[in-house]
Amino acid sequence: MDIDRNALAQSILALTEGETDTVALMATVVCELHNHHPFADWTGFYRVVAPELLKIGPYQGGHGCLVIPFSRGVCGASARTGQVLNVPDVEHFPDHIACSSTTRSELVLPVWNGKGRLLGVLDLDSNTEAAFTAEDEAWLVPLLAQVFHDAD
Ligand code: SME
Repeated sequence: MDIDRNALAQSILALTEGETDTVALMATVVCELHNHHPFADWTGFYRVVAPELLKIGPYQGGHGCLVIPFSRGVCGASARTGQVLNVPDVEHFPDHIACSSTTRSELVLPVWNGKGRLLGVLDLDSNTEAAFTAEDEAWLVPLLAQVFHDAD
């Protein structure tokens, strides 16, 4: 199955237009990505709720860990460094948090609003090894910036 990234981006932008509520935006992005990306087995946001602390936000898939400090896991590393992390094999990522034993690869992207405040991270997990590509990364970075630009 292939993915029409352009159509999916258009649909996400149309659905979220004019919305500034962070959780409403996160819920909509998660739903669209999870239902249209062929390799997404768990898709969700972790929100920054206190200094150096992430808590689960809207997600789809099996239950996720509720709390992740910036010091832990792939999500924590992305929030701490502000880097996109594409991990083709989680077994080779030191300190990966295994919320689900079936997860083989993941892509985590930091999410900022237009004022430069870190809102959280988007976590895409797959049961397939090396599921996420540089194309996914290059497509999602500007899309997230646009969707969350006016988020409060
Ligand atoms: N994969 C994440 C943990 C969250 S879940 O798997 C839902 C990590 O290592 O940061």
